[in-house]
Amino acid sequence: MKKYYIRTFGCQMNINDSQKMAGMLKTLGYEPARDWEDADIILVNTCSVREKPDQKVLSALGEFKKIKNKKPDAVIGVCGCLAQRAGYEILQKAPFVDMVFGTTNIHHLPKLLEEALQGNKAVEILEDIDQNETELDKYPTVRENRYTAYVTVMRGCDKKCTYCIVPYTRGKERSRRIGEILQEVQWLIDDGVKEIHLIGQNVTAYGKDLGDVRFVDLLYAVADVEGVERIRFTTGHPRDLDEETIKAMAEIPQICEHLHLPIQAGSDRILKAMERGYTQKEYLEKIELLKKYIPDISLSTDIIVGFPGETYEDYMETIKVLKEVEYDQVFAFKYSPRPGTPAAQMPMTEDPKTLSKWLNDLILMQKEITFKKNLQYEGKTVEVLVEEEKEGRFVGRTRTNKLVHIEGRNNLLGEIVDVKVTKVNRFSLEGEAIEQLV
Ligand code: SAH
Ligand code: SF4
Ligand code: F3S
Repeated sequence: MKKYYIRTFGCQMNINDSQKMAGMLKTLGYEPARDWEDADIILVNTCSVREKPDQKVLSALGEFKKIKNKKPDAVIGVCGCLAQRAGYEILQKAPFVDMVFGTTNIHHLPKLLEEALQGNKAVEILEDIDQNETELDKYPTVRENRYTAYVTVMRGCDKKCTYCIVPYTRGKERSRRIGEILQEVQWLIDDGVKEIHLIGQNVTAYGKDLGDVRFVDLLYAVADVEGVERIRFTTGHPRDLDEETIKAMAEIPQICEHLHLPIQAGSDRILKAMERGYTQKEYLEKIELLKKYIPDISLSTDIIVGFPGETYEDYMETIKVLKEVEYDQVFAFKYSPRPGTPAAQMPMTEDPKTLSKWLNDLILMQKEITFKKNLQYEGKTVEVLVEEEKEGRFVGRTRTNKLVHIEGRNNLLGEIVDVKVTKVNRFSLEGEAIEQLV
């Protein structure tokens, strides 16, 4: 049997696309390779959100090139956001690549692969969104995790934050029809999945383009599918997160007490330059509302340090927000100018060394807050969905998205168990399954 290997960079959207591509390749008779060196087809699903992922793609390609020495007929393909943005450039930089395709024509993979297998360069980068892109949704996903699964509910983004490449690589917002989403949820449940993770660049804007359905309707509908034990969704945009959605989060028992709500910056001046569409005060009001309806909610966020024009005072506003909100987790990155975005034209004011220091200081401070938040779990009993077994211990997540290592004698895989937390680490918890204590 021929084998495939997929290397994925970037966000959940890319992970889910890769899972679908694996499903496609399986239906074409391929099986997963243990390693890229055993593969007959290597796919690199790329991200372009910052410069670093761009560079990582090129160095991965440099590595994969070697497959051609051993297997001259092996096919190397590049897809995803960098491919969408820089399709033909990739062929110039890496002429050994056989296949390049973008983010809205993934369902053409079988056709492109056939072309490449005939020895042709199979390149298809579409400027407009492919009308049949939802063909992709019909394929089963190949998932590493048997009990939790992503479901793409919308594609693209209409927000156009001035620093961000995503609207250019993923196009305008398109929501999937609710019936099709529920169908996919049903397949996953039938396959043994317990936790459904709805994803999109902007899930809280779900339905706006369809007109007759809102994100809350989707939440209630997914919760109504029998067998759905947990629901998560990512990413919510602060601007679209309304009280109704927050109420639904509190009301629907399966929705987990966790939300990733990217703020990006604390300073109103910078938020305005980023065109995020909210002020610090408005953002904090949403956080307050979340904490009011869901008192034990855990929160995470994204931060960009060093947006053009950001001063020390602006940066300190971000620090102030982190101290006030006390997020469970923060993903912070240095601003990276992206070609073609409005912010790439704006002059940088601070030098890179200062920005690195700001970023490091912020990460160090947050590390303490994360630890402090984790310490609150000491001795508590938490509900864990056990996702895998690793070195004789079980590993799962709490509803609040904390990683838990569990001692257990019985097989707990795929179970939702109560766990008594016995030890708190910086980035995870340890505990014993209650049923085994008695
Ligand atoms: N739709 C999501 C974000 C998707 S991109 C939202 O609006 O929040 C994921 C994260 O990458 C962003 O939250 C942002 O923090 C980061 N990011 C995007 N563009 C960036 C850039 N040019 N430089 C640094 N970080 C960036
Ligand atoms: Fe990018 Fe902003 Fe859209 Fe998020 S909301 S994907 S940051 S443009
Ligand atoms: Fe990266 Fe594209 Fe996701 S740029 S963050 S893979 S939408």
